[in-house]
Amino acid sequence: MFIDAAGLSPADTYRLLVGSVVPRPIAWVTSGRDPVNLAPFSSFTWVSQHPAMLGFTVNRRAHGRKDTIRNIEAYGEYVVNIADESMLASLHASSEGMPPDVGEAEHLGLALEDSRVIGIPGLADAPVRMECRYHSTTAFSPTGGEFVVGTVVAWSIRDDIVRVGSTGAASIDTELLRPIGRLAGPRYTPLGRVMELPPVPGG
Ligand SMILES: Cc1cc2nc3c(=O)[nH]c(=O)nc-3n(C[C@H](O)[C@H](O)[C@H](O)COP(=O)(O)O)c2cc1C
Repeated sequence: MFIDAAGLSPADTYRLLVGSVVPRPIAWVTSGRDPVNLAPFSSFTWVSQHPAMLGFTVNRRAHGRKDTIRNIEAYGEYVVNIADESMLASLHASSEGMPPDVGEAEHLGLALEDSRVIGIPGLADAPVRMECRYHSTTAFSPTGGEFVVGTVVAWSIRDDIVRVGSTGAASIDTELLRPIGRLAGPRYTPLGRVMELPPVPGG
C-alpha cells in the first residue's frame, strides 16, 4: 500500500507513526514541585552524545499544554527515569490525565528520591535516572508536538546493573536492566532475543 502523507489527518498520521517507529524507549519524566508531576513519553531518544542530550515530543492537548512541558520550562530541570518491567503497570497508569495539583507519583504510591545535582526528585525505584537541565523547546505545526531537549547533568544507576570495564568506565547491562519498549496504543514489549554481530570496521 502506498500512502501520500499529505492527505492524512492528524489521527491517521499518528496511527502510522506509532506503528512504524517501534519499539520506542520511554522517558518517564518527573517534573515540577509541590506536587511532583510524573508522566511517560515514548517519542523519546537522545539527540547529542557529548554532552548527553535527550529529547522527546510533548503533544498538545485540546485545552492547552501538558503539565510536563509547563513544569520543565518553569523550573528548568527535570528527571528522565527509565522503568524496568516490574514498573510497567505504574508507568502505564501514570499517563492518566490528572489535574496539575495531583502528583502522579504520590497518587500511585511511587517513592521519590532527591536528585544529587538538580532540585527535582526522581523515582526511587527506577533503575536509571538522568538528571536534566532544560535546553530548548522546538514547536512544530499547530497539529504537531513540541520537542523538548535537555542536557543530562548526572546519572544514578542501580549498582547491580552497572558493568565497570578495564578503563574504569561504566556501562549498563541491558539484559539486567529489563527495559520496556512501547508499541502502538496500550501495548508494550520486554527486551526480546538479543542478536549480536561482529563489529564492522569504521562503523
Ligand atoms: C507509554 C506512554 C507513552 C506516551 N508517550 C507520549 C509522548 O511521546 N508524547 C505525548 O505527548 N504523550 C505521550 N503519552 C501520553 C502522556 O503520558 C499523557 O498525556 C500524560 O497525561 C501527560 O501528563 P502531564 O499532563 O502530567 O504532562 C504517552 C503515554 C504512555 C502510556
